[in-house]
Amino acid sequence: MAGGPHDKETVKYVGDSRVRATRERLLPKPYSEYPGKTEPFFPNFLLKEWMAAVVFLIGFMVLVVSHPAPLESHAADPNDTSYIPLPDWYFLFLYQLLKKIPGDMIVLGTVVIPGFFSLLFLLAPWLDRSPERRPWKRPIATTIMLFVIASIVYLTYEAVAQHKMQLEESASAAEQAPAPPPAPAPTESAAFDPEQAYMQSCSACHGQDLKGTPAAPSLIGLSLSTDEVVDIMTNGIGVMPAGRFQGTDEQKKQLAEWVLSHQ
Ligand code: HEC
Repeated sequence: MAGGPHDKETVKYVGDSRVRATRERLLPKPYSEYPGKTEPFFPNFLLKEWMAAVVFLIGFMVLVVSHPAPLESHAADPNDTSYIPLPDWYFLFLYQLLKKIPGDMIVLGTVVIPGFFSLLFLLAPWLDRSPERRPWKRPIATTIMLFVIASIVYLTYEAVAQHKMQLEESASAAEQAPAPPPAPAPTESAAFDPEQAYMQSCSACHGQDLKGTPAAPSLIGLSLSTDEVVDIMTNGIGVMPAGRFQGTDEQKKQLAEWVLSHQ
């Protein structure tokens, strides 16, 4: 190997004969070696970054304003209990994992299992130091990775399938039980009991004693007229939903008077 021009210094080569064992370390030259070809980070370079960011931001805002995100129609309706929320697709496997873990061990599903695998992934370069690059020569790392990928795919698939089933079930349940009337529409004013109507239609939010709950304020000592209270129960107010009490105008008036009688 040694010969020709290198006779005297006895050149040593490592495995790859193009690389000298005694090679000097290849360090990039300092920037001062390139006069006129560098620029200060602040403000020159950063300014360009900012300008690009501003262009992107404006474009993004135009897009957001011209195509507002479609709020799922149910999502903002607190009265719709049939709504089944679902995380975005890339979190579905975590969501499905939670379903498989009993409630009292939920930390296992939220922190321990995902944390363990994330940590494993993070530490992989230190744990698996083999120079081998072919996957089949690194059976442990490859097995774990395949297991994780297969689990993610399976859990995601299962979550989607179960959600579909739930939707179909609730749809067919809704068909079978045709709309139970929200409040047993008291038509004959003869037997109308405002207190009972209040307990049915209002107490869930305003409290059985009218003193309010975290969901709604107290109704005691209101300085409103009967008509105003009728208007509120018909049309709602603020976050209070409209039409919680389905009665005749006369019954609404009676209910309003009953509420206002609590001073
Ligand atoms: C889903 C919960 C909910 C139900 C059911 C509900 N309310 Fe309310 N109500 C509220 C909330 C919340 C407010 C406060 C609204 C605001 O100011 O944003 C409110 C406000 C009111 C107010 C105005 C109070 C004030 O201080 O001005 C009146 C009057 C009232 N409700 C009457 C009723 C009556 C009568 C019923 C039954 C027919 C009823 N509410 C049912 C949630 C509810």
